[in-house]
Amino acid sequence: MTEQSPALDNLLTESRTFPPSEEFAARANATPEWYAEADQDREAFWARQAERLHWDTRWSQVLDWSQAPFAKWFTGGKLNVAYNCVDRHVEAGHGDQVAIHWVGEPGDTRDITYAQLKDEVCKAANALTSLGVTANDRVAIQLQMIPEAIVAMLACARIGAMHSVVFGGFSPTALRSRVDDAQAKVVITSDGQYRRGKAAPMKANVDEALAGAESVEKVVVVRRTGDDVPWTQGRDLWWHELVDPQPAEHTPQAFDSEHPLYILYTSGTTGKPKGILHTSGGYLTHVAYTHHAVFDHKPGEDVYWCTADIGWVTGHSYIVYGPLANRVTQVVYEGTPNTPHEGRHWEIIQKYKVSIYYTAPTLIRTFMKWGNDIPAKYDLSSLRVLGSVGEPINPEAWMWYREHIGGNRCPVVDTWWQTETGGIMISPLPGVTHAKPGSAQRPLPGISAKVVDDTGTEVGKGGGGYLVLDKPWPGMLRGIWGDDERYKETYWSRFAEQGFYFAGDGAKYDADGDIWLLGRVDDVMNVSGHRISTTEVESALVSHPTVAEAAVVGATDPTTGQGIVAFVILRGGVAEDEAGGAEAIQALRDHVAKEIGPIAKPRQIMVVPELPKTRSGKIMRRLLRDVAENREIGDVTTLADSSVMDLISSGLKSGK
Ligand code: WTA
Repeated sequence: MTEQSPALDNLLTESRTFPPSEEFAARANATPEWYAEADQDREAFWARQAERLHWDTRWSQVLDWSQAPFAKWFTGGKLNVAYNCVDRHVEAGHGDQVAIHWVGEPGDTRDITYAQLKDEVCKAANALTSLGVTANDRVAIQLQMIPEAIVAMLACARIGAMHSVVFGGFSPTALRSRVDDAQAKVVITSDGQYRRGKAAPMKANVDEALAGAESVEKVVVVRRTGDDVPWTQGRDLWWHELVDPQPAEHTPQAFDSEHPLYILYTSGTTGKPKGILHTSGGYLTHVAYTHHAVFDHKPGEDVYWCTADIGWVTGHSYIVYGPLANRVTQVVYEGTPNTPHEGRHWEIIQKYKVSIYYTAPTLIRTFMKWGNDIPAKYDLSSLRVLGSVGEPINPEAWMWYREHIGGNRCPVVDTWWQTETGGIMISPLPGVTHAKPGSAQRPLPGISAKVVDDTGTEVGKGGGGYLVLDKPWPGMLRGIWGDDERYKETYWSRFAEQGFYFAGDGAKYDADGDIWLLGRVDDVMNVSGHRISTTEVESALVSHPTVAEAAVVGATDPTTGQGIVAFVILRGGVAEDEAGGAEAIQALRDHVAKEIGPIAKPRQIMVVPELPKTRSGKIMRRLLRDVAENREIGDVTTLADSSVMDLISSGLKSGK
């Protein structure tokens, strides 16, 4: 087991628990019996969850694991994902229910009912078809949080095309590599986006990314900021000119349960992002079930708000697919939480009477920093469930969230999962679980997870090790796009003998057997809940002409969870005072932002004469993390040259 930060060790001495109120438990969607029912017959349990959906053809087999680790769920079943998320609610008489309360950053708003959403999705599906997009084609989407983003995803799902949503903050280089990897035929974007009160260009970045991209036939542009954009005749089309005139009728075709739904790229331990592949029936079952159980969502009563961006999996599973399959009324907010003021989220909750709020620890810690008096000014009494996702939540942040946002009345659910798992895996159930601040606690009914040691043996109560998933689950990834070997190698080789999925996270059982997540054990950093690989940032740094070598570590950060700290060796001939000066360092940070995106900008870059390496040449990041976190340097005996750390430390102390 790799080292843990002291802050995470502190988590484990937490002993407070919060039982559910009787009132909440009496009306809760989940019941304590679900655990035993699922344990007794896991497949029957999942089959019952699949009944939440409309199937055009019922499945013949719940799980086919004969070609493990490539799973098939609900084989023989056929369904249309978009029909399940939109049409069936209209057909059941809920066409007038608001699906989306959209709030633009500048203050403009739109309420979209299920009937309207259906029309929009049908038009967009017809529009994509008119461009020659057919089932199995890939459509890349780089859009901010506007309704068209959701409409575009559902339109793809409706015609069986796969979407690949690329986070709006990713650089042209990052977008291009994703477009090329998936061979996207169409790209959907906008003219620009509002960020912190200003309009920032989007289309211009997309153009830069797509120069010479051979797979791309059309670029569809949503008008949002109204700013002028560069235009490629014959390739570019305005969304409103293409989509608006289309007929609002479109017959959804039923696709196989294992028909691919989307690709979503995520960082792994190498420089090349992995295209995580999700399919239809099992995925939609998993996200609909978990949204129902974990958030206790009641259609037609609750107002739900997940603050994620559709560029990440949380946006896919808990803004688009799970919630819409469950007939949610939800808030979608375009902008940043402090524009135009730091009470923006609370103002929105007050206005729309939001009852379920799902956000990330990094934001909770930011709210704490901004001060208790800010949420105190708003009426947050509509809230009844609070969720957290993306990284371990420290007990202090959990308690603050419960008290200052939840008024000590709302259950807090800390949900552990990954892009690869498709949906929530480990989480308390509101109304059932006695919650513990900072712990995700137990695998959900139907899910199985274990904490094991190096040899794959489960550790006992109080023991720590690696988190593994020891049984297949419906929302699981079906592979890495175009790279079956990498899929097997990345997730299934570490505990091949036991057939466990290796999540890449460290975890521990407490004395009650509850699970505490302890952060990544591989070379993946978690910055504000975003996964960034150390190798990716290192490659970006090395691609700069002044850098010879780079090593990157994630150092504990009080707000972002981890911060990116880079150690660079300059090329021979580059004068250190020139290339190591404040301006040159800033240039390197900007270079990383340009190569990957602003989220990957190192918090700190240190110029060093050497890097600590083992005799086989592997960089010992553990020692660099000690430097980055101002700790005493750990064991250096495995270094090829044990004086390197002295050289690094003395260089830093002398201010070089
Ligand atoms: C981390 C986000 C602790 C974890 C849904 C995982 C968490 C990675 C939690 C996946 C949590 C996510 N407690 N750690 N509640 N939720 N993580 O793919 O390290 O962006 O492996 O999916 O985030 O990040 P991803």
